Parts: sequence; C-alpha cells; structure tokens
Amino acid sequence: MAVVLTIAQQKGGAGKTMLAAHLGVAFAAGRRVALLDIDPQKSLTRWFALRAARPPGKDLAPLGFSDVSGWRLGAELDRLKRDFDLIIIDSPPQIATDARTALRAADLVLVPIQPSPPDLWAAEGTLALAASERRAAHLVFNRASAASRLRQTMAAEIAERGLSLLAGALGNRAGFANAFARGLGIGEAAPNSRAGTELAALAAEIDGFLA
Ligand SMILES: Nc1ncnc2c1ncn2[C@@H]1O[C@H](COP(=O)(O)OP(=O)(O)OP(=O)(O)O)[C@@H](O)[C@H]1O
Ligand SMILES: [Mg+2]
Repeated sequence: MAVVLTIAQQKGGAGKTMLAAHLGVAFAAGRRVALLDIDPQKSLTRWFALRAARPPGKDLAPLGFSDVSGWRLGAELDRLKRDFDLIIIDSPPQIATDARTALRAADLVLVPIQPSPPDLWAAEGTLALAASERRAAHLVFNRASAASRLRQTMAAEIAERGLSLLAGALGNRAGFANAFARGLGIGEAAPNSRAGTELAALAAEIDGFLA
C-alpha cells in the first residue's frame, strides 16, 4: 500500500519545497518515491528539471515526478499510488482546493515552521484542517538554532496545545539551499555535513511513522 506524505503550511517560505526535495532523495534509498508538485510556483518542478539535466555520472536516487494539479489531481494520485510506495506532495502556501485534496489524501502531514510565534500562528489553519480530516500532522522546526530560548518556549507551547512536534529539526544551513540549487538532495551533495546529518535523522524519525 502506498503512503502519502503531504507537506503543508500556509506561511510562504517555511521550507515545504526544500523538505520535499531532500526527504524525497533520502527515502528513495529504500522505497519507490514519487514527488508531486501541486504549487503553481513550481519550485519543486524547477528543482527536478535541474536534476534531470545533470550530466550522467554520479548515480542519483531514482525519483518519480508529477506536477499534475487541478481537476486531474485525484486520478493522478490514484495512478501514483499504484506505481510507487511513497508519494510526497509539496503544496502551495495557501489552503486552496488542491491543498485540501492533498491533505485529505495524506497518511501523514508535515508542517514546517520556524520556531517563532508567527510561524505557529500561520500553521493553525493547516493543523485545523488536518485535524478535521483526521490526518496525523506533525510540526517540524526548520531554520532552528540548536539551543535558543525561543525554540524551547515554542516547543513548550506546542506541547501545551497538544500538538506533535518532531524531535528532529533542521538548522539554517547553506548546504540545504546549495544542494537544492544543483538539483540534488543533501544526502547526495553532502551527506556527512551537519545539514546531511540533520536531514538523515529527521528522515529516520519520519520513517517510523510511515508503516
Ligand atoms: N533549513 C534551511 N536552511 C537554509 N535555507 C533554507 C532552509 N529552509 C529553507 N531554506 C531556504 O528558504 C527559502 C524558502 O524555502 P522553501 O522554498 O522550501 O519554502 P516553501 O515553504 O516551499 O515556500 P513557498 O510557500 O513559497 O512554497 C528557499 O530559498 C530555501 O532554500
Ligand atoms: Mg514551496
């Protein structure tokens, strides 16, 4: 049975697309993974085009890709579920029709936030919608500094609200953006960097939620 992982957050620039690309590469080591870009900005599509245009040589993780959205999205999801083990959906920074479909289709929802109040507030709509659809949603800190007081305060507030926050978090690291700019996942570009280690730990944690 295919598993659908939807990455959603109404706030722009939270790290949805970055996570989709790097996690996709990480999970492709053990699963047949397809990425599905339903954001009209098409950033993930651009990343995938860079990847496809890379000169042959170093082996890249095999990834399926689709940017079908709109009225064909439901049928496209059914098709991808037949052909792949894991579908990672990168959604736009607003909850429009497609994003609702992507949340409804999700087995697991990841909601990236910077550890600061506005990011958590911006996530409330996505979290409420996931809850109303009875979808398991997990917040993940992105661009988080290791031991800031604000990070601890935010983690405490998230726990108080009864929300789930993943233990794994990503720091603000140029490695993520640099790998993305080359059409690579951090696990391909710099697996032993701090960014690479953080991403691998996060992927391992998420793997525990993906039956
Ligand atoms: N942990 C990080 N370290 C360094 N740069 C990051 C990190 N996370 C995201 N970025 C950078 O921040 C920018 C926004 O990230 P990204 O495009 O993934 O956000 P998004 O949530 O998909 O945005 P949108 O809502 O517009 O689709 C990108 O330039 C990305 O490379
Ligand atoms: Mg994006």
